[in-house]
Amino acid sequence: MDRVIRLGMLGCGTVGGGVATILAREADDITARTGAKLELTRVAVRDLDRDRGLGLPSEAFTTDPEEVVAADDVDIVVEVMGGRDPAGSLIRRALELGKPVVTANKELVAHEGPELFAAARAAGVDLAYEAAVAGAIPIIKPMKESLAGDRVERVVGILNGTTNYILTRMTEEGADYEAVLADAQALGYAEADPTADVGGHDAAAKAAILASLAFDTAVHADDVFTQGIESVNATDIRVADRLGYVIKLVGIASEADDRVAVRVHPAFLPKTHPLASVRGSFNAVYVEAWATGELMFYGRGAGAMPTGAAVVGDVIDVARNLLQTVRGPTESQHRAKSIRPIEELSTQYYLLLDVEDAAGVLARVATAFGEHDVSIAQVWQEGGGDSAQLVLITHRAREADLRATVESVTAIDSVRSVASVLRVEAEVFDS
Ligand code: NAP
Ligand code: HSE
Repeated sequence: MDRVIRLGMLGCGTVGGGVATILAREADDITARTGAKLELTRVAVRDLDRDRGLGLPSEAFTTDPEEVVAADDVDIVVEVMGGRDPAGSLIRRALELGKPVVTANKELVAHEGPELFAAARAAGVDLAYEAAVAGAIPIIKPMKESLAGDRVERVVGILNGTTNYILTRMTEEGADYEAVLADAQALGYAEADPTADVGGHDAAAKAAILASLAFDTAVHADDVFTQGIESVNATDIRVADRLGYVIKLVGIASEADDRVAVRVHPAFLPKTHPLASVRGSFNAVYVEAWATGELMFYGRGAGAMPTGAAVVGDVIDVARNLLQTVRGPTESQHRAKSIRPIEELSTQYYLLLDVEDAAGVLARVATAFGEHDVSIAQVWQEGGGDSAQLVLITHRAREADLRATVESVTAIDSVRSVASVLRVEAEVFDS
Protein backbone atom coordinates (compact mmCIF):
# COMPACT_ATOMS: atom_id res chain seq x y z
CA MET A 1 0.00 0.00 0.00
CA ASP A 2 1.93 3.04 -1.25
CA ARG A 3 -0.73 5.64 -1.64
CA VAL A 4 -0.89 8.42 0.95
CA ILE A 5 -3.68 11.00 1.13
CA ARG A 6 -2.70 14.11 3.04
CA LEU A 7 -5.11 16.02 5.21
CA GLY A 8 -5.02 19.68 6.15
CA MET A 9 -7.19 20.52 9.15
CA LEU A 10 -8.54 24.01 9.86
CA GLY A 11 -9.02 24.12 13.63
CA CYS A 12 -7.94 21.72 16.34
CA GLY A 13 -10.32 22.34 19.23
CA THR A 14 -12.95 19.94 20.55
CA VAL A 15 -13.83 18.31 17.23
CA GLY A 16 -10.39 18.66 15.63
CA GLY A 17 -8.86 16.99 18.70
CA GLY A 18 -11.28 14.08 18.29
CA VAL A 19 -10.43 13.78 14.60
CA ALA A 20 -6.67 13.75 15.25
CA THR A 21 -7.06 11.17 18.04
CA ILE A 22 -9.14 8.82 15.91
CA LEU A 23 -6.86 9.13 12.88
CA ALA A 24 -3.88 8.20 15.07
CA ARG A 25 -5.48 5.39 17.10
CA GLU A 26 -7.34 3.71 14.22
CA ALA A 27 -4.66 4.33 11.58
CA ASP A 28 -4.24 0.72 10.45
CA ASP A 29 -7.93 -0.01 10.05
CA ILE A 30 -8.53 3.33 8.39
CA THR A 31 -5.74 2.63 5.91
CA ALA A 32 -7.19 -0.80 5.12
CA ARG A 33 -10.72 0.58 4.69
CA THR A 34 -9.66 3.55 2.60
CA GLY A 35 -7.07 1.89 0.40
CA ALA A 36 -4.57 4.62 1.28
CA LYS A 37 -2.82 5.94 4.35
CA LEU A 38 -4.41 9.13 5.71
CA GLU A 39 -1.80 11.52 7.03
CA LEU A 40 -2.61 14.72 8.94
CA THR A 41 0.12 16.95 7.54
CA ARG A 42 -1.04 20.46 8.47
CA VAL A 43 -3.21 22.02 11.15
CA ALA A 44 -4.32 25.64 11.50
CA VAL A 45 -5.02 27.00 14.99
CA ARG A 46 -5.07 30.42 16.63
CA ASP A 47 -2.80 29.63 19.56
CA LEU A 48 0.46 27.89 18.70
CA ASP A 49 1.56 27.69 22.32
CA ARG A 50 -1.28 25.51 23.54
CA ASP A 51 -0.27 21.90 24.24
CA ARG A 52 -2.95 19.84 22.53
CA GLY A 53 -1.53 16.51 23.68
CA LEU A 54 -2.11 14.90 20.31
CA GLY A 55 1.45 13.83 19.49
CA LEU A 56 1.50 15.88 16.26
CA PRO A 57 4.83 17.52 15.31
CA SER A 58 4.98 21.23 16.10
CA GLU A 59 5.91 21.94 12.41
CA ALA A 60 2.42 20.72 11.44
CA PHE A 61 0.83 23.72 13.17
CA THR A 62 0.37 27.19 11.74
CA THR A 63 -1.80 30.18 12.49
CA ASP A 64 -2.41 30.71 8.77
CA PRO A 65 -5.37 28.62 7.55
CA GLU A 66 -4.91 29.88 3.97
CA GLU A 67 -1.47 28.32 3.95
CA VAL A 68 -3.02 24.97 4.91
CA VAL A 69 -5.62 25.17 2.16
CA ALA A 70 -3.06 26.03 -0.51
CA ALA A 71 -0.30 23.66 0.64
CA ASP A 72 0.98 21.15 -1.93
CA ASP A 73 1.02 18.48 0.74
CA VAL A 74 -2.72 18.81 1.45
CA ASP A 75 -5.11 16.73 -0.68
CA ILE A 76 -8.28 17.02 1.47
CA VAL A 77 -9.27 19.97 3.66
CA VAL A 78 -11.05 19.26 6.96
CA GLU A 79 -12.78 22.38 8.30
CA VAL A 80 -13.45 22.20 12.04
CA MET A 81 -12.83 25.81 13.02
CA GLY A 82 -16.47 26.88 12.94
CA GLY A 83 -18.18 30.19 12.09
CA ARG A 84 -19.02 31.58 8.66
CA ASP A 85 -15.97 33.71 8.14
CA PRO A 86 -13.21 32.88 7.27
CA ALA A 87 -14.39 29.23 7.15
CA GLY A 88 -16.60 29.93 4.12
CA SER A 89 -13.93 31.61 2.03
CA LEU A 90 -11.38 28.96 2.99
CA ILE A 91 -13.72 26.19 1.86
CA ARG A 92 -14.45 28.00 -1.40
CA ARG A 93 -10.72 28.39 -2.01
CA ALA A 94 -10.09 24.70 -1.31
CA LEU A 95 -12.83 23.72 -3.77
CA GLU A 96 -11.43 26.09 -6.41
CA LEU A 97 -8.11 24.34 -6.00
CA GLY A 98 -9.86 21.03 -6.66
CA LYS A 99 -9.52 19.83 -3.06
CA PRO A 100 -12.45 17.97 -1.51
CA VAL A 101 -13.69 19.35 1.80
CA VAL A 102 -15.12 17.75 4.94
CA THR A 103 -16.79 20.13 7.38
CA ALA A 104 -18.69 19.96 10.68
CA ASN A 105 -19.93 23.51 10.23
CA LYS A 106 -23.73 23.54 10.31
CA GLU A 107 -23.91 27.33 10.59
CA LEU A 108 -22.06 27.71 7.31
CA VAL A 109 -23.93 24.94 5.47
CA ALA A 110 -27.32 26.24 6.65
CA HIS A 111 -26.53 29.78 5.47
CA GLU A 112 -24.44 29.17 2.37
CA GLY A 113 -25.17 25.55 1.41
CA PRO A 114 -26.47 26.12 -2.15
CA GLU A 115 -23.45 28.30 -3.09
CA LEU A 116 -20.99 25.83 -1.55
CA PHE A 117 -22.65 22.83 -3.22
CA ALA A 118 -22.48 24.66 -6.55
CA ALA A 119 -18.79 25.41 -6.02
CA ALA A 120 -18.10 21.73 -5.23
CA ARG A 121 -20.09 20.67 -8.32
CA ALA A 122 -18.17 23.13 -10.50
CA ALA A 123 -14.87 21.83 -9.14
CA GLY A 124 -15.96 18.19 -9.50
CA VAL A 125 -15.04 17.34 -5.89
CA ASP A 126 -16.87 16.31 -2.73
CA LEU A 127 -18.15 18.55 0.04
CA ALA A 128 -19.17 16.32 2.96
CA TYR A 129 -20.85 17.46 6.20
CA GLU A 130 -22.18 14.44 8.12
CA ALA A 131 -20.90 15.83 11.46
CA ALA A 132 -22.78 19.09 10.93
CA VAL A 133 -26.11 17.55 12.01
CA ALA A 134 -26.61 15.54 15.19
CA GLY A 135 -22.92 14.81 15.86
CA ALA A 136 -22.21 11.10 15.62
CA ILE A 137 -25.59 10.11 14.19
CA PRO A 138 -25.44 9.06 10.55
CA ILE A 139 -28.29 11.18 9.18
CA ILE A 140 -27.00 13.14 6.16
CA LYS A 141 -26.14 9.97 4.28
CA PRO A 142 -29.46 8.23 5.06
CA MET A 143 -31.40 11.34 4.01
CA LYS A 144 -29.35 11.86 0.84
CA GLU A 145 -28.82 8.25 -0.19
CA SER A 146 -30.81 5.58 1.69
CA LEU A 147 -34.11 7.46 1.49
CA ALA A 148 -33.62 8.72 -2.08
CA GLY A 149 -36.30 6.29 -3.27
CA ASP A 150 -38.91 7.47 -0.80
CA ARG A 151 -40.76 10.71 -0.06
CA VAL A 152 -40.01 12.17 3.35
CA GLU A 153 -43.06 13.83 4.87
CA ARG A 154 -41.86 14.99 8.25
CA VAL A 155 -38.65 15.15 10.27
CA VAL A 156 -38.71 15.75 14.02
CA GLY A 157 -35.44 15.95 15.88
CA ILE A 158 -33.72 16.63 19.13
CA LEU A 159 -30.84 18.31 17.38
CA ASN A 160 -28.83 20.05 20.07
CA GLY A 161 -26.86 18.19 22.71
CA THR A 162 -26.25 21.19 24.96
CA THR A 163 -29.91 22.10 25.39
CA ASN A 164 -31.00 18.49 25.77
CA TYR A 165 -28.35 18.05 28.45
CA ILE A 166 -29.53 21.22 30.24
CA LEU A 167 -33.23 20.34 30.06
CA THR A 168 -32.57 16.76 31.18
CA ARG A 169 -30.68 17.88 34.27
CA MET A 170 -33.21 20.61 35.08
CA THR A 171 -35.98 17.99 34.81
CA GLU A 172 -34.33 15.11 36.63
CA GLU A 173 -32.29 16.93 39.28
CA GLY A 174 -33.98 20.30 39.51
CA ALA A 175 -30.56 21.66 38.53
CA ASP A 176 -29.92 25.36 38.01
CA TYR A 177 -29.82 26.53 34.37
CA GLU A 178 -26.56 28.54 34.58
CA ALA A 179 -24.66 25.79 36.42
CA VAL A 180 -25.67 23.10 33.94
CA LEU A 181 -24.80 25.32 30.99
CA ALA A 182 -21.29 25.70 32.45
CA ASP A 183 -21.05 21.89 32.70
CA ALA A 184 -22.15 21.52 29.05
CA GLN A 185 -19.41 23.96 28.05
CA ALA A 186 -16.79 22.09 30.07
CA LEU A 187 -17.85 18.81 28.46
CA GLY A 188 -17.28 20.26 24.96
CA TYR A 189 -20.95 20.10 23.91
CA ALA A 190 -21.56 23.83 23.57
CA GLU A 191 -20.58 26.06 20.66
CA ALA A 192 -17.80 28.63 21.15
CA ASP A 193 -20.67 31.08 21.70
CA PRO A 194 -23.25 29.04 23.66
CA THR A 195 -26.04 31.49 22.84
CA ALA A 196 -26.21 29.62 19.51
CA ASP A 197 -27.18 26.52 21.50
CA VAL A 198 -29.54 27.93 24.12
CA GLY A 199 -31.10 30.39 21.66
CA GLY A 200 -32.03 27.52 19.31
CA HIS A 201 -29.91 28.80 16.39
CA ASP A 202 -27.63 25.74 16.30
CA ALA A 203 -30.67 23.44 16.13
CA ALA A 204 -32.27 25.75 13.54
CA ALA A 205 -29.22 25.42 11.28
CA LYS A 206 -29.45 21.64 11.56
CA ALA A 207 -33.19 21.68 10.94
CA ALA A 208 -32.64 23.78 7.79
CA ILE A 209 -30.07 21.28 6.51
CA LEU A 210 -32.36 18.31 7.19
CA ALA A 211 -35.36 20.05 5.62
CA SER A 212 -33.34 20.83 2.49
CA LEU A 213 -32.40 17.18 2.11
CA ALA A 214 -35.84 15.87 3.06
CA PHE A 215 -37.79 18.05 0.66
CA ASP A 216 -35.27 18.49 -2.21
CA THR A 217 -35.22 22.22 -1.84
CA ALA A 218 -33.02 24.98 -0.41
CA VAL A 219 -34.08 25.88 3.12
CA HIS A 220 -32.01 28.68 4.64
CA ALA A 221 -31.31 29.01 8.37
CA ASP A 222 -33.34 32.25 8.36
CA ASP A 223 -36.40 30.34 7.10
CA VAL A 224 -36.61 28.47 10.40
CA PHE A 225 -38.86 29.85 13.14
CA THR A 226 -36.52 29.77 16.15
CA GLN A 227 -37.11 30.03 19.88
CA GLY A 228 -34.57 28.96 22.52
CA ILE A 229 -34.76 27.47 26.00
CA GLU A 230 -33.55 30.51 27.96
CA SER A 231 -36.92 31.21 29.51
CA VAL A 232 -37.92 27.64 30.36
CA ASN A 233 -38.35 27.59 34.14
CA ALA A 234 -38.92 25.10 36.96
CA THR A 235 -42.69 25.70 36.95
CA ASP A 236 -42.91 24.90 33.22
CA ILE A 237 -41.05 21.64 33.83
CA ARG A 238 -43.24 20.74 36.82
CA VAL A 239 -46.49 21.46 34.95
CA ALA A 240 -45.33 19.41 31.96
CA ASP A 241 -44.51 16.49 34.25
CA ARG A 242 -47.87 16.72 36.01
CA LEU A 243 -49.69 16.52 32.65
CA GLY A 244 -47.61 13.60 31.33
CA TYR A 245 -45.12 15.55 29.21
CA VAL A 246 -41.43 16.40 29.14
CA ILE A 247 -40.01 19.65 27.75
CA LYS A 248 -37.59 19.20 24.84
CA LEU A 249 -36.08 21.58 22.32
CA VAL A 250 -37.40 20.11 19.08
CA GLY A 251 -36.82 20.83 15.42
CA ILE A 252 -39.84 20.02 13.25
CA ALA A 253 -39.83 20.12 9.45
CA SER A 254 -42.79 19.17 7.33
CA GLU A 255 -44.09 19.69 3.83
CA ALA A 256 -47.59 20.09 2.46
CA ASP A 257 -48.82 21.49 -0.86
CA ASP A 258 -45.31 22.37 -1.98
CA ARG A 259 -44.81 24.52 1.12
CA VAL A 260 -42.23 23.72 3.77
CA ALA A 261 -42.63 24.54 7.47
CA VAL A 262 -39.57 24.41 9.71
CA ARG A 263 -39.55 25.38 13.37
CA VAL A 264 -37.31 24.97 16.41
CA HIS A 265 -38.66 25.65 19.89
CA PRO A 266 -39.09 24.08 23.31
CA ALA A 267 -42.23 21.97 23.40
CA PHE A 268 -44.21 19.70 25.69
CA LEU A 269 -43.76 16.14 24.30
CA PRO A 270 -45.83 13.24 25.61
CA LYS A 271 -43.67 11.01 27.84
CA THR A 272 -44.74 8.10 25.61
CA HIS A 273 -43.22 9.57 22.44
CA PRO A 274 -39.88 7.94 21.44
CA LEU A 275 -38.18 11.36 21.48
CA ALA A 276 -39.17 11.93 25.13
CA SER A 277 -36.69 9.31 26.31
CA VAL A 278 -33.71 10.96 24.58
CA ARG A 279 -31.66 12.21 27.53
CA GLY A 280 -28.47 14.17 28.19
CA SER A 281 -26.30 15.13 25.24
CA PHE A 282 -27.95 12.49 23.06
CA ASN A 283 -29.77 13.54 19.90
CA ALA A 284 -32.38 11.72 17.85
CA VAL A 285 -34.00 12.25 14.49
CA TYR A 286 -37.44 10.82 13.86
CA VAL A 287 -38.37 10.58 10.19
CA GLU A 288 -41.76 9.84 8.68
CA ALA A 289 -41.61 8.81 5.04
CA TRP A 290 -44.40 7.88 2.63
CA ALA A 291 -43.23 4.36 1.72
CA THR A 292 -40.92 3.51 4.64
CA GLY A 293 -43.10 4.70 7.51
CA GLU A 294 -41.30 5.73 10.68
CA LEU A 295 -37.56 5.70 11.30
CA MET A 296 -35.60 6.83 14.31
CA PHE A 297 -31.89 7.64 14.42
CA TYR A 298 -30.35 7.99 17.87
CA GLY A 299 -26.90 8.72 19.26
CA ARG A 300 -24.51 11.23 20.75
CA GLY A 301 -25.12 14.65 19.30
CA ALA A 302 -22.00 16.43 20.49
CA GLY A 303 -18.54 15.99 21.97
CA ALA A 304 -15.01 15.44 20.67
CA MET A 305 -14.97 11.72 19.92
CA PRO A 306 -18.55 11.18 18.64
CA THR A 307 -18.30 14.18 16.33
CA GLY A 308 -14.71 13.32 15.41
CA ALA A 309 -15.90 9.85 14.32
CA ALA A 310 -18.49 11.38 11.97
CA VAL A 311 -15.81 13.64 10.46
CA VAL A 312 -13.37 10.75 9.99
CA GLY A 313 -16.13 8.67 8.36
CA ASP A 314 -16.61 11.47 5.82
CA VAL A 315 -12.85 11.79 5.30
CA ILE A 316 -12.65 8.08 4.45
CA ASP A 317 -15.56 8.40 2.01
CA VAL A 318 -14.05 11.42 0.34
CA ALA A 319 -10.59 9.82 0.19
CA ARG A 320 -12.02 6.70 -1.46
CA ASN A 321 -13.73 8.88 -4.06
CA LEU A 322 -10.50 10.78 -4.62
CA LEU A 323 -8.67 7.52 -5.26
CA GLN A 324 -11.29 6.53 -7.82
CA THR A 325 -11.51 10.07 -9.24
CA VAL A 326 -15.27 10.14 -8.69
CA ARG A 327 -17.65 12.32 -6.64
CA GLY A 328 -20.07 10.98 -4.08
CA PRO A 329 -23.84 11.52 -4.36
CA THR A 330 -24.79 15.18 -4.40
CA GLU A 331 -27.66 17.21 -2.96
CA SER A 332 -30.84 17.42 -4.97
CA GLN A 333 -32.43 20.86 -4.64
CA HIS A 334 -34.54 20.52 -7.75
CA ARG A 335 -37.85 21.67 -6.27
CA ALA A 336 -38.59 25.32 -5.55
CA LYS A 337 -40.85 25.50 -2.51
CA SER A 338 -42.07 28.37 -0.41
CA ILE A 339 -41.86 28.58 3.36
CA ARG A 340 -45.08 28.38 5.35
CA PRO A 341 -45.16 31.12 8.02
CA ILE A 342 -45.35 30.09 11.69
CA GLU A 343 -48.58 32.12 12.07
CA GLU A 344 -50.37 29.34 10.18
CA LEU A 345 -49.31 26.65 12.67
CA SER A 346 -52.12 25.00 14.55
CA THR A 347 -51.27 23.31 17.85
CA GLN A 348 -52.06 23.34 21.57
CA TYR A 349 -50.38 25.83 23.89
CA TYR A 350 -49.37 26.07 27.54
CA LEU A 351 -49.27 29.54 29.14
CA LEU A 352 -48.03 30.63 32.55
CA LEU A 353 -49.22 34.05 33.74
CA ASP A 354 -48.05 36.01 36.78
CA VAL A 355 -51.24 37.60 38.08
CA GLU A 356 -52.77 39.58 40.90
CA ASP A 357 -54.66 37.21 43.20
CA ALA A 358 -58.00 39.10 43.00
CA ALA A 359 -61.62 38.58 42.06
CA GLY A 360 -62.42 38.78 38.33
CA VAL A 361 -58.86 38.27 37.04
CA LEU A 362 -59.52 34.79 35.68
CA ALA A 363 -62.73 36.01 34.01
CA ARG A 364 -60.87 38.85 32.24
CA VAL A 365 -58.13 36.46 31.08
CA ALA A 366 -60.73 33.94 29.84
CA THR A 367 -62.56 36.69 27.95
CA ALA A 368 -59.36 37.65 26.10
CA PHE A 369 -58.88 34.04 25.03
CA GLY A 370 -62.50 33.81 23.87
CA GLU A 371 -62.30 37.05 21.89
CA HIS A 372 -59.49 35.58 19.79
CA ASP A 373 -61.18 32.23 19.30
CA VAL A 374 -58.69 30.35 21.48
CA SER A 375 -60.46 27.70 23.53
CA ILE A 376 -59.12 26.83 27.01
CA ALA A 377 -58.85 23.11 27.80
CA GLN A 378 -57.54 23.38 31.38
CA VAL A 379 -56.83 26.19 33.81
CA TRP A 380 -55.67 26.33 37.41
CA GLN A 381 -53.96 28.67 39.85
CA GLU A 382 -50.58 28.00 41.43
CA GLY A 383 -49.58 29.87 44.59
CA GLY A 384 -51.45 32.89 45.90
CA GLY A 385 -51.04 36.46 47.08
CA ASP A 386 -48.02 38.16 45.54
CA SER A 387 -46.86 35.00 43.78
CA ALA A 388 -50.10 33.85 42.17
CA GLN A 389 -49.72 32.21 38.77
CA LEU A 390 -52.34 31.02 36.31
CA VAL A 391 -51.61 27.93 34.25
CA LEU A 392 -53.62 27.53 31.03
CA ILE A 393 -53.62 24.75 28.45
CA THR A 394 -55.48 25.53 25.25
CA HIS A 395 -57.21 23.32 22.78
CA ARG A 396 -55.64 23.38 19.34
CA ALA A 397 -55.45 26.99 18.13
CA ARG A 398 -53.83 28.96 15.33
CA GLU A 399 -50.50 30.56 16.24
CA ALA A 400 -51.71 33.93 14.91
CA ASP A 401 -54.74 33.80 17.24
CA LEU A 402 -52.62 32.71 20.17
CA ARG A 403 -50.24 35.64 19.61
CA ALA A 404 -53.15 38.08 19.51
CA THR A 405 -54.43 36.52 22.74
CA VAL A 406 -51.07 36.98 24.44
CA GLU A 407 -51.06 40.63 23.39
CA SER A 408 -54.54 41.18 24.87
CA VAL A 409 -53.72 39.29 28.07
CA THR A 410 -50.51 41.30 28.54
CA ALA A 411 -52.60 44.48 28.44
CA ILE A 412 -54.82 43.40 31.36
CA ASP A 413 -53.89 45.42 34.50
CA SER A 414 -54.01 42.46 36.86
CA VAL A 415 -51.66 40.39 34.68
CA ARG A 416 -48.11 41.22 35.75
CA SER A 417 -46.48 39.22 32.97
CA VAL A 418 -46.90 36.32 30.56
CA ALA A 419 -44.05 34.24 32.00
CA SER A 420 -44.18 31.34 29.54
CA VAL A 421 -45.80 30.33 26.27
CA LEU A 422 -44.88 26.86 25.03
CA ARG A 423 -46.32 24.67 22.32
CA VAL A 424 -47.82 21.36 23.37
CA GLU A 425 -47.19 18.67 20.80
CA ALA A 426 -49.77 15.96 21.35
CA GLU A 427 -49.53 12.29 20.24
CA VAL A 428 -49.00 13.23 16.62
CA PHE A 429 -46.96 16.32 15.83
CA ASP A 430 -49.23 19.16 14.86
CA SER A 431 -49.12 21.16 11.70
P1 NAP B 1 -13.58 24.84 19.13
O1 NAP B 1 -13.32 23.86 20.21
O2 NAP B 1 -13.82 26.25 19.48
O3 NAP B 1 -12.37 24.74 18.09
C1 NAP B 1 -12.17 25.67 17.05
C2 NAP B 1 -10.75 25.52 16.55
O4 NAP B 1 -10.56 26.36 15.44
C3 NAP B 1 -9.68 25.88 17.58
O5 NAP B 1 -8.62 24.97 17.50
C4 NAP B 1 -9.23 27.27 17.15
O6 NAP B 1 -7.87 27.51 17.47
C5 NAP B 1 -9.40 27.17 15.65
N1 NAP B 1 -9.65 28.44 14.99
C6 NAP B 1 -10.75 29.22 15.09
N2 NAP B 1 -10.63 30.31 14.32
C7 NAP B 1 -9.43 30.22 13.72
C8 NAP B 1 -8.72 31.04 12.81
N3 NAP B 1 -9.23 32.17 12.34
N4 NAP B 1 -7.50 30.62 12.39
C9 NAP B 1 -6.97 29.47 12.85
N5 NAP B 1 -7.60 28.64 13.69
C10 NAP B 1 -8.81 29.02 14.14
O7 NAP B 1 -14.85 24.38 18.26
P2 NAP B 1 -15.45 22.91 18.10
O8 NAP B 1 -16.41 22.64 19.20
O9 NAP B 1 -14.37 21.94 17.83
O10 NAP B 1 -16.36 23.11 16.79
C11 NAP B 1 -15.77 23.16 15.51
C12 NAP B 1 -16.87 23.04 14.47
O11 NAP B 1 -17.55 21.79 14.63
C13 NAP B 1 -17.97 24.10 14.57
O12 NAP B 1 -18.43 24.40 13.26
C14 NAP B 1 -19.05 23.41 15.36
O13 NAP B 1 -20.34 23.93 15.10
C15 NAP B 1 -18.94 22.01 14.80
N6 NAP B 1 -19.44 20.94 15.67
C16 NAP B 1 -19.07 20.89 16.98
C17 NAP B 1 -19.51 19.84 17.77
C18 NAP B 1 -19.11 19.72 19.22
O14 NAP B 1 -19.58 18.79 19.88
N7 NAP B 1 -18.27 20.58 19.74
C19 NAP B 1 -20.34 18.86 17.22
C20 NAP B 1 -20.71 18.95 15.87
C21 NAP B 1 -20.23 20.00 15.10
P3 NAP B 1 -7.36 27.54 19.01
O15 NAP B 1 -7.49 26.14 19.50
O16 NAP B 1 -5.94 27.97 18.92
O17 NAP B 1 -8.27 28.49 19.70
N1 HSE C 1 -23.19 22.64 20.22
C1 HSE C 1 -23.74 21.55 19.51
C2 HSE C 1 -24.70 20.80 20.41
C3 HSE C 1 -22.65 20.63 19.04
O1 HSE C 1 -24.74 21.07 21.61
O2 HSE C 1 -25.43 19.96 19.89
C4 HSE C 1 -23.14 19.60 18.07
O3 HSE C 1 -23.50 20.15 16.86
